[in-house]
Amino acid sequence: MFSINSECILSKKSEDIPPFYVMEVLESAQALEAEGRHIIHLEVGEPDFPTASHICEAACAAIGRGSTKYTHSQGLLSLRETIVESYHRKFGVDLSPDQVIVTSGTSPGLLIVFMALLEKMDEVIMSNPHYACYPNFVKYLGGTPIYVYTNETNGFALEPETVKQCLSSNTKAILINSPSNPGGHVMSPESLQGLAAIADERGIPIVSDEIYQGLIYSGEEHTILEYTDNAFVLNGFSKLYAMTGWRLGYIICPPECVRAIQKIHQNFFICANSFVQEAGVAALKGSQEHVAEMIQTYNTRRQYMLKRLLGMGLDVRKEPMGAFYVLADARKYSNDSLELSRRILNEAGVAVTPGIDFGNGAEGYLRFSYANNLENIKEGMDRLEAFLEKELEGEL
Ligand SMILES: Cc1ncc(COP(=O)(O)O)c(C=O)c1O
Repeated sequence: MFSINSECILSKKSEDIPPFYVMEVLESAQALEAEGRHIIHLEVGEPDFPTASHICEAACAAIGRGSTKYTHSQGLLSLRETIVESYHRKFGVDLSPDQVIVTSGTSPGLLIVFMALLEKMDEVIMSNPHYACYPNFVKYLGGTPIYVYTNETNGFALEPETVKQCLSSNTKAILINSPSNPGGHVMSPESLQGLAAIADERGIPIVSDEIYQGLIYSGEEHTILEYTDNAFVLNGFSKLYAMTGWRLGYIICPPECVRAIQKIHQNFFICANSFVQEAGVAALKGSQEHVAEMIQTYNTRRQYMLKRLLGMGLDVRKEPMGAFYVLADARKYSNDSLELSRRILNEAGVAVTPGIDFGNGAEGYLRFSYANNLENIKEGMDRLEAFLEKELEGEL
């Protein structure tokens, strides 16, 4: 029988791309579950809430009306208008629906933006730790991620002063993410303003991943668009509206760049799913009561989880105020987060994400997601505490 030698047929870059470890942890956890083990999932960044019924009904009604065809490659005008209205309502920014390109999630949006921006050797400045996939988008397209090692005491946030030191003639963009994954931190208006000033002065855009927008537990929220027009904003419905599986997101970009982005979208994706776009209109226009309830529930879980983690000596040096993650320092127990997370999964039955997934700036840390119900979080914390106590006893 003919057998394929993958080394000969696959590109080097597809061989070299690292796995998304959180998915690997999830898959290992699922394999244990298939063997009958009970696992507590604190690894995935996926809301545990169902999508609100009015959103589901809007999608069903759209299918019923025959909204099952390709849409305009930039997305339905009604959705783009609603997105623009929502940015105006929340942040007072004036945008045109013509600046919006609706995508099948934030992930394709990121790919398209970097496809549009990057030439070989171009550099993208980003924090370390960072969302696991960021460097992989950049490297896959021939670019180079330039890491700014951020400080835990200020929530691992990118600061204008340190970004300035990393600028070079090859800098093509500054990538930011607030509220952030994995740290769950919200950037201050001063930092956003400072970064926007650098971008304007140097004529390089900010790529701002705002996927966790709305998920904040105190204080005010901002978009980079309040400080500069020189920005590519990525956002979507996965997190705030508990719509991960629907695959719906969008890019907001400077008017001069729309055509290039649109052409890439047309060629590689055609358009986002039609009836899902109609569900997106219902999500933004309909009652936000379920969103407020989710936020309240996340906040209760956040406070509980933080207290428990700190009680186990898993330090968190700045309280995370956004998204649904806690990045805790586990170096007291191990410097190898992948190995530690494997042992926590196998021995304690708790799935957590190793910090190394988010760059070597988070090695020795573990990321905990509180997108799970309080009962499970309690059980997960109890199991983890018992495991860590045994670890310490073993050391004595
Ligand atoms: C920071 C960040 N950006 C983008 C994504 C991908 O979101 P989407 O489901 O819209 O592709 C995630 C998902 O976890 C994320 O954490």
